[in-house]
Amino acid sequence: MSDQQTSDKQPYFITTAISYVNGLPHLGHAYEAISADVMARFKRLDGFDVHFLTGTDEHGQKVEKTAIAADMAPKAFCDQNAAHFREMARTLNLSNDDFIRTTEERHIKASQAIWKMLADSGDIYLDSYAGWYSVRDEAYFDEGELTDDPDNVGQKLAPSGAPVEWVEEPSYFFKLSEYTDKLLAFYEENPDFIMPATRKNEVVSFVGQEGGLRDLSISRTTFNWGVPVPGDDAHIMYVWLDALTNYITALGFPGDGIGGVAGRDAAYKTHWPADLHIIGKDIVRFHAVYWPAFLMSAGIPVQKRVFGHGFLNIEGQKMSKSLGNVLSPDAMINEFGLDQLRYFLMREVPYGQDGSFSHEGIVQRINADLSNDFGNLAQRSLSMINKNCGAQVPSNAALNDDDQAMLDAAANLVAEMRAAFDVQAFHTALEAMWTVIRAANAYIDAQAPWKLRKEDPARMEAVLYTLAETIRRLGILAQPFMPTSAGKMLDQLAVPGDATASGSVFGAGLSGLDLSEDIAEGGEGVDLSGQSGPNASANLPRQFAAVTDPAYMLAPGTVLPAPEGVFPRFVEAEAE
Ligand code: MSP
Repeated sequence: MSDQQTSDKQPYFITTAISYVNGLPHLGHAYEAISADVMARFKRLDGFDVHFLTGTDEHGQKVEKTAIAADMAPKAFCDQNAAHFREMARTLNLSNDDFIRTTEERHIKASQAIWKMLADSGDIYLDSYAGWYSVRDEAYFDEGELTDDPDNVGQKLAPSGAPVEWVEEPSYFFKLSEYTDKLLAFYEENPDFIMPATRKNEVVSFVGQEGGLRDLSISRTTFNWGVPVPGDDAHIMYVWLDALTNYITALGFPGDGIGGVAGRDAAYKTHWPADLHIIGKDIVRFHAVYWPAFLMSAGIPVQKRVFGHGFLNIEGQKMSKSLGNVLSPDAMINEFGLDQLRYFLMREVPYGQDGSFSHEGIVQRINADLSNDFGNLAQRSLSMINKNCGAQVPSNAALNDDDQAMLDAAANLVAEMRAAFDVQAFHTALEAMWTVIRAANAYIDAQAPWKLRKEDPARMEAVLYTLAETIRRLGILAQPFMPTSAGKMLDQLAVPGDATASGSVFGAGLSGLDLSEDIAEGGEGVDLSGQSGPNASANLPRQFAAVTDPAYMLAPGTVLPAPEGVFPRFVEAEAE
């Protein structure tokens, strides 16, 4: 990120939740990671100095219990499962700059540092906890929040449906009650802090409950798998205090503060407070109540926004091990293709709402939106140029008003999509793109360039130029969603840029689709964004600024490579 070349850019820090390593990554984790990657790539292409963080949450009772059940030492168990999440980041072509594990030394130091800051503020006291705890949620609940389990007399359930157990143990507490009014005032002053609005309402009514917030137990004594409380080894830190701290650990916190490494916090200085924590709707309370209160107590600025996305169901049913419908991202990439999956998830589900994955739904999107609408637009236009214009960008000497209107519609997309991304309305941004894609298909039909070849070759050139230039603009704007496919489209228009910078598809042996041509050489780790780092200037022609800057318009006479289909149709495998 911040090197000399990029230091004049505005910083942007975006994070996902860090996943518990008690199980393997599933489609819900992939959904969150892809959405954050789409946002991160968009901001990079829009000229920001982006830092994108994801990782794993490895402490706590849930992980410890699962490790014991697997007959493994917790650390070895975490190493094994964290590797799957790290691998998922690669297979999803995430452009993350860092992958944090909460068992890392840097994180243990940062967690202990924030603890000391809360203690120094006078916000921690020793007492004992007697109450309900849900191991699955790693959360404490008041009696009033629980329901009776209809299938198990005497068992109480948390709002998530997870069983709770009664816990009594010595515990340190955080004076959360003192933050009730401060939090309410903060929400009032920062109306877009919690999004979407429905989640905000839930938080405001929780914080504003009769009597306000109650103090929070922030240490445990009945098991060991956690960060030791500074100065009291009998306690480990409550996993959520440790986990939330990951967001600042990764930037080098506490720097030259307590226990930190001086000079390692350059990113903390430039990139904190975070611009956006992307998380699921089930963990909004931790991010929008506890985390800001901890930060206020420590005297650290509060993050700018928490976006609680919805949950993905499978064919209308909740994903669960017992239903056997937990979908693995790898299997879906193999079946449908990575960019196709990324597109489907971002287009199908209005971001913030719950959504459902269905086989029929993704096939429909692949064949109608990608193959028919976008793929054919490019394929038809580029084939005509290849055959009729000597495989060169045609002349733009005589563009008429229709042509200009087409080009303007594509240029205006930058502002429309930016407005949608400002509020994480990814589906709206795609809708806007597709309005232009459909308009471009209607433009081809209306202009009928195939008829013009003999009748009016100069007009044919103007039409084909307009189409090629429209596709260039669309290709640039499609990159955050479908980095590899959009990159290929830009390659076909000879738009300069590092082809591998737009990422790669992993996992050969795709079925259903003929995607062999889509498997690019995977440049790993470095500068997947095509924006920051050493390739930044080389990739300027693929940045959003190049959509509207006339200097980057296609130059007539530029030789183009032979066109190839970018979005193949999905063909159902023959039933045996
Ligand atoms: N470890 C905590 C987060 C700590 S953040 C400081 C946690 N982990 S998790 O593995 O249970 O969930 C990780 C993320 O995946 C959460 O944001 C969660 O909401 C999201 N999802 C888990 N299942 C999901 C779906 N079925 N659909 C969409 N997102 C879901 O919570």
